[in-house]
Parts: sequence; structure tokens; C-alpha cells
Amino acid sequence: MGFRFPVTDVMEDRWYDKVLDGNDKSLAYFAIELVKNSRLIGFCSLTDIDYQSSNAQFGIMIGDTKFQGKGVGAEALAHTVEYAFRSLNLHRIYVMVRGTNERAVNLFNQAGFKSEGVMREHYFVNGHYEDVMIMSLLKIDYPSLSK
Ligand SMILES: CC(C)(COP(=O)(O)OP(=O)(O)OC[C@H]1O[C@@H](n2cnc3c(N)ncnc32)[C@H](O)[C@@H]1OP(=O)(O)O)[C@@H](O)C(=O)NCCC(=O)NCCS
Repeated sequence: MGFRFPVTDVMEDRWYDKVLDGNDKSLAYFAIELVKNSRLIGFCSLTDIDYQSSNAQFGIMIGDTKFQGKGVGAEALAHTVEYAFRSLNLHRIYVMVRGTNERAVNLFNQAGFKSEGVMREHYFVNGHYEDVMIMSLLKIDYPSLSK
């Protein structure tokens, strides 16, 4: 469910510079690296950060598939949630996830996200429409912050 149009090297460089310069306070990107050798295996993000309503959209990608299903996503999500609630003082984190993406839905369920509803046939992919779920986590529902 990412950017749909052709991406040029120039566009990629500009996007990278925008993330690096840190001036856009509506987004926060994190690299996911292996501790042992700093190898980049994915990224996660908070985007559309809204400081009035204190919410943001979460995104994650373990791009190197051999590192999927090993707990990396859960760890990265936990760190990002901590950052969002403790440092940015956000109130709600939401995610849009394809209903067929079982691993992602499980990941968010495990982390305490609740399903808010389904956007029926919202996303067109591979010649058909798919449902997209909206899931969210409120600060008050996040276990480690309620201790
Ligand atoms: C979705 C994604 C981020 C999950 O990260 P991950 O490192 O693979 O997942 P984890 O190993 O941390 O597993 C987290 C939870 O997902 C679930 N899970 C893991 N493997 C699973 C599988 N094969 N099938 C179903 N659920 C699975 C489990 O509930 C697991 O929790 P548990 O370990 O307590 O049982 C990762 O697979 C990914 O990058 N996928 C492609 C991009 C994507 O779909 N991004 C999400 C868009 S919203």
C-alpha cells in the first residue's frame, strides 16, 4: 500500500534528503538494523503526525524477507510505540492494513491494537479489490505505560 507511481533516482534522493534534514515534523522514519553488523533490513515510520489531535499513522516493512517472522517487527513496533507515546506525547497510533495480510494483522493484535473497522474493497491490487482494516492503539491501552 505504498507509493504507486514510478520512482526515479532523483525522487528517491529528494525523499531521502527530506527524511535526513528532519525539518518535516509530520514524519519520523527509523531504520531497522541488525545489532551485530548494522545491516539495514527494514524501516518503520510515523507519518501524518497531527500535533493538535495527537495521532499518527504507523508503517513498517521488513524488506529482507528472511528476517520476517522472527520477532523483529514486534520489537521495532514496540520501540516506535514507546517513542510515539513517551517522546511525542501522542494519544493514538493507527495503521491501515490489508485484510489478507495475516502476519501484519497478528502483529498489531499482539501489540494491543484494536480493529476499528473495514474499508470494503478499498485497495486495488493484482486485478482485484481488497478490504483494508483500520487498527489503532490508544496510549491508555498500552500496557507498559499503564504500569
Ligand atoms: C508485517 C511485518 C512487519 C511483521 O514483522 P515480522 O518481524 O515478520 O513479525 P514478527 O516475527 O515480529 O511477528 C509478530 C507477530 O506476528 C505474528 N506472526 C508471525 N509470523 C506469522 C505468520 N507466519 N503467520 C501469521 N502470523 C504471524 C505472530 O502473532 C507474531 O507474534 P508472536 O511472535 O507473539 O506469535 C513483516 O512481516 C513485514 O515487513 N511484512 C511486509 C510488509 C508489511 O506487510 N508491512 C505491514 C503493512 S501494514
